[in-house]
Amino acid sequence: MYEPAEDSYLLEEEIIAFCKDKNINKSLDMGTGSGVIAQTLTKFSAQVFAVDIDSKSLAKAKKNTEGKIVFLKSDLFKNVKEKDFDLIVFNPPYLPEDEHGKDKELAGGKEGVELTLEFLKQAKKHLSQEGQILFVASSLANLNLLDKKASKDFYLEKVRELPLFFEKLYVYKATLEQKVVDQVKE
Ligand SMILES: C[S@@+](CC[C@H](N)C(=O)[O-])C[C@H]1O[C@@H](n2cnc3c(N)ncnc32)[C@H](O)[C@@H]1O
Repeated sequence: MYEPAEDSYLLEEEIIAFCKDKNINKSLDMGTGSGVIAQTLTKFSAQVFAVDIDSKSLAKAKKNTEGKIVFLKSDLFKNVKEKDFDLIVFNPPYLPEDEHGKDKELAGGKEGVELTLEFLKQAKKHLSQEGQILFVASSLANLNLLDKKASKDFYLEKVRELPLFFEKLYVYKATLEQKVVDQVKE
């Protein structure tokens, strides 16, 4: 199980800032790990879903958390039937694969963004029209590729950053609504 670290707390900070004046009915924490983010979501959201591909993480997250959280074992949205989420968050494995190969908690593909791009593609079908996505990315990954591909479907914005010794972590916000507005204007 992934122990909460700077990236978890950066996303958590943004969630707290983002949710404080909003009425969130349904939210989803993708890649819940220890459940730390799902637990934070329970303070703001009437229904919280938490997903992980790893059974052991899910078992620990269930023990670590309290309140009504629906836990699902799923590879991204494969087993997620619910739609119309107001908020979907993901602190994904965001590092480029290296000589150590694939670590499911850390490596997000050769460029470090492939899993995130697949997540965004699938998330689109589960988001309410005004829904928002918040996710973490690293300067060590190919963020140009992320921007280029994700911007086809979403309006993307960096809303928070944290400089670390070797990298900068970012929280991105992705919205459909703004994209729709822009497309109407064009
Ligand atoms: C960087 S950890 C984040 C854990 C926790 N959300 C946090 O912020 O501390 C990434 C999590 O994503 C999960 N994960 C990796 N690939 C996944 C996939 N395809 N579908 C669902 N979860 C996945 C991992 O098992 C891990 O728990």
